[in-house]
Order: sequence, then structure tokens, then C-alpha cells
Amino acid sequence: MKNKSLISITDFSKKEYLEILDLAEEFEKQPVQNIANGKVVATLFFEPSTRTRLSFESAANRMGAKVIGFSDASSSSTSKGESLVDTIKTVSCYADIIVMRHPLEGAARLASEVASVPIINAGDGANQHPTQCMLDLYSIRKTQNTLDNLNIALVGDLKYGRTVHSLVEAMCNFNTVFHLISPESLKLPSSVKMRINEKKLKYYQYREIQDAIDKVDILYMTRVQRERFLDIQDYEKVKNTYILDYSMLAKTKPQMKILHPLPRVNEINTNVDNTPQAYYFQQAQNGVYVRQALIAAILALK
Ligand code: CP
Repeated sequence: MKNKSLISITDFSKKEYLEILDLAEEFEKQPVQNIANGKVVATLFFEPSTRTRLSFESAANRMGAKVIGFSDASSSSTSKGESLVDTIKTVSCYADIIVMRHPLEGAARLASEVASVPIINAGDGANQHPTQCMLDLYSIRKTQNTLDNLNIALVGDLKYGRTVHSLVEAMCNFNTVFHLISPESLKLPSSVKMRINEKKLKYYQYREIQDAIDKVDILYMTRVQRERFLDIQDYEKVKNTYILDYSMLAKTKPQMKILHPLPRVNEINTNVDNTPQAYYFQQAQNGVYVRQALIAAILALK
């Protein structure tokens, strides 16, 4: 993984995912390790973020690296008309690794083609969010003690949810049965379903959470991605389709966990937060260990 960019989850092999998860376990046991002294991590966020940016910055700080960058593109020279290519070529001169979020699908791949340092895709439009996927895998393995042969329900915006696309592609390596729960207009894109078919895995499609909740090991909730809709009225029609409530958890498998990449809007009632099934804030915490592992592996610090 040394000097390798991470743009899509398929850029890493199953063996490489598992190595990152093992390394993240080491960081969870000992988060403060001054192994990146003298290194500079750039975080370039052309779209809003709380967890991804701050957990990368926390990860870098805990390893002794310095962080530069911006959380709002309006404060960068792109607001004066500078191209993404020129921005990336410039920041490559200042940092050892670049973490970038951008609203356009393919922007991270383009950045990796012109950068002289590794690029980590922190989300490109509705396309991919591979580091979220790595922390989702970590959270699934930690709560289920395995990644193999699990039943996973993906709920909500399966069309625009980039975390869903990355997670389906990764879990195709682990003999997963997928339960896809969405409104008709937000079904999983056929390009992602094709990955499931290529691996000859099973998937089932539902309209209601209650049709699948008692069958699954992981219930992966997602927000309807308002910012991806061209017509706000289409968003209004589906925005509250799913609201997971405490009362819906009576018949879950004993070890079932609820994940959510966050932020949430209405799709999980706060009365779920203190149930044994709720795991989404621990999941966000796992992001720090996984991002420490990714920085360490890509910069060959371990
Ligand atoms: N999960 C996630 O990407 O959250 P942020 O948008 O807050 O980074």
C-alpha cells in the first residue's frame, strides 16, 4: 500500500483491507504513536464534513503529523477560478498525502492522476467513500467477530449514498446476503447490483424495514442525500420514508447492530441511541483508528 492512492474501495484487495483492519486494531489499543513526526497531511474539503475531516485530522495529530488544508473551498483559490488540477499540483508540493472530498464524481481519480503524492478519496459526489467503507468493515468485524457469511440490510438512499456503494463492493468479498430497503426512486444503481451478481451472491429488495429487520446481523441506515437531488420536490417525497424507532427493535437477532455513516437527519429516532443495537457513535470513533492505519500504511510508517 506504500504510496498508493485510495480512490475506490476496489483499489485495495481483500488482503489489503484485512491488513488495514488489523493495523487499526493496534491503533485502537494504543492511539497515540509519534510515528509521523515531520509528515504533513493536507485535508482539502470542497464539501461539508464533520466526521471524515475531523477524524483524519485527529488521526494525523495522534501520530505526530502536522495538518494543513481547508474545510470550505470558498477560502481557497478555487473561488478565484483555479482548476482542481492546479490546486492538487500545488498542494502536492506542501504535503506528503492529500485527503480530498469533492462534490463531483471522478474528481478524486483525476486528482490522483496529477498529484505527486498519494490521494485519499474522502467522498466524491454520489460515487465512493472508501475510508468510510474501511471503518464500516472494522465496525462490522468488531461487533460480529467476522466479516464472512453475514446478512446486511442497507436502508434508505441506496441510489446516491456513496457509503452504500463502497460497502456493497467490499462486502461482495465476504459471501454476504444483501437486504436492500429503499423507496422505488432510490434503489441501488444497476452498476452496483452488477457487482453482487458477478460474485453470484444473493440480494433481496424490500420497501419496509420490518420485512427484513429480524433476519439481519447489521442494519445499515442512511440519510436521504438532499444535496444530490436535482428537484427538491423529489427529495420532499422520500425524505421521511424511513424512521427507525425503538419499538421496531423487539425481534432483532441478539447480536444485531445498527450502523449509520452519519450525519443523521430523521432516519433514526433518538430513542434508539441507548439501545444495545445502536452502534453508530462507536462506529464514528472507529474512524480515527482506521484512518490512522490508512495514513500509516500509505506513508509506510508501519
Ligand atoms: N460519514 C461521513 O462522511 O460524515 P461527514 O460527512 O460528517 O464526514
